[in-house]
Amino acid sequence: MSTTPTFDLLIRGGTVIDGTKAPRFDADVGVKDGRIAAVGDLAGASATRTIAAAGLIVAPGFIDAHTHDDQALFAQPDMAFKVSQGVTTVVAGNCGISAAPLKKGMKLPMPLDLLDVPDAERHSTFAGWVAALRARPAATNVAALVGHSTLRAATMESLDREATGEEIAAMQALLVEALEAGAIGLSTGTFYPPAVKASTEEIVEVGRPLAVHGGLYVTHMRDESSKVMEALDETFRIGRALGIPVVVSHHKVQNKPNFGRSTETLAFIRETMKGQQVCLDCYPYTAGSTMIRTDRGMLDGRVLIASSTPHPECAGRDLGDIAAEWGVAESEAARRMQPGTAIYFLMDEPDVQRILAFDETMIGSDGIPTGEKPHPRLWGTFPRVLGHYSREVGLFPLETAVWKMTGLTARNFGLADRGTVTVGQHADLVLFDAATIRDAATYEAPTTPAEGIHAVIVNGGVAWEGGRSTGVRRGQVLKRTPSAAPRGAAA
Ligand code: ZN
Ligand code: CU
Repeated sequence: MSTTPTFDLLIRGGTVIDGTKAPRFDADVGVKDGRIAAVGDLAGASATRTIAAAGLIVAPGFIDAHTHDDQALFAQPDMAFKVSQGVTTVVAGNCGISAAPLKKGMKLPMPLDLLDVPDAERHSTFAGWVAALRARPAATNVAALVGHSTLRAATMESLDREATGEEIAAMQALLVEALEAGAIGLSTGTFYPPAVKASTEEIVEVGRPLAVHGGLYVTHMRDESSKVMEALDETFRIGRALGIPVVVSHHKVQNKPNFGRSTETLAFIRETMKGQQVCLDCYPYTAGSTMIRTDRGMLDGRVLIASSTPHPECAGRDLGDIAAEWGVAESEAARRMQPGTAIYFLMDEPDVQRILAFDETMIGSDGIPTGEKPHPRLWGTFPRVLGHYSREVGLFPLETAVWKMTGLTARNFGLADRGTVTVGQHADLVLFDAATIRDAATYEAPTTPAEGIHAVIVNGGVAWEGGRSTGVRRGQVLKRTPSAAPRGAAA
């Protein structure tokens, strides 16, 4: 005779780091119907499945604050590059680029092509994209932004100018459709050609519907180099004009003359937080990665080609070597390799550490999930923060590191019932070894899975275990609940 077990899943004997920055404590965690049903001494309980977690940390599943996984959720539904790191939720649609709404047959300008959306899989509405994902869930949850550059491409004949009143109205209508379908906000990428000509006023006007729908404004700013302070000021002005929270994406100060200026930018962010909601994210590397660019500022340091459509053989090689071999200037070699992606070494380690350690900084990978030689952040970001920056460098305690990738992120994005190990929360969990967790992905071997991650649970299902995907795909499309997001540091 058998009785119904108390839990679907019981994680026994682990040490909980709960995602609130509170000190760790020993506890069992019981999961039932996709939710955390109990946390504490569950010695007498029975379960359909038990995982022994002695010696391991049990933490909330990590939330990747900044991704370009919109299409990867369909193309690589096991999301191994993310769940292998302990990531259970990705925020997609960043840098002005979202997979929807896109017209079929339209040629996508760089960097919209980075998402790699096949023509047949394009959705002309955001609701269509959400429905497709609900019908074919991926291994991780997603919270998605709609991209301003995507809206421009969908509504404007030419992108090399400011939008007209009519075009702005058309973009607003698409934004409203997206927000009603579950988008959590609007992202911009005024650094990139499709949006470079968009004025502050254009963005404010397009963004008008955000406040009533409880949406966020998230931005890859116009400048992260010599004009970074002006770019921050523009971002904050947009947030104030719309009366909504802003997220400064992958905050950095790049190019040598700006090294050290994170002291200036962080002081400005801190001061601004007193009067309005400001959030920021950061990836733990001194190199960035984006489309292949030919402008001098981007080619100032070492450039590593990650992918090239016309020259796939160049992936993994230095631009300098390729240019020398071809007997042309680096900018010319870069032009010949477009479209494609590259890795740019333009940051200084002390700035990266200062921004990571800033108490309100969330962790976001900014990984680009295409090609064979991506930036190692795609596979290594979260274990690198936990292993390298917390354990080895001692930048912050493990509890703080976990908070920066769970509780803080859930709060900032308004992801209700996620981000902490508390009874009633959705059962997104990661079990890892604090002593051994480390990123193994390097610039040379960028797709090597991290070490020290034992199991990853998404909505109560084990998605990653024993170093591989289990094939369980319980990811959900998450909406933003503004009330779940208490006011930031300004409160
Ligand atoms: Zn970006
Ligand atoms: Cu990005």
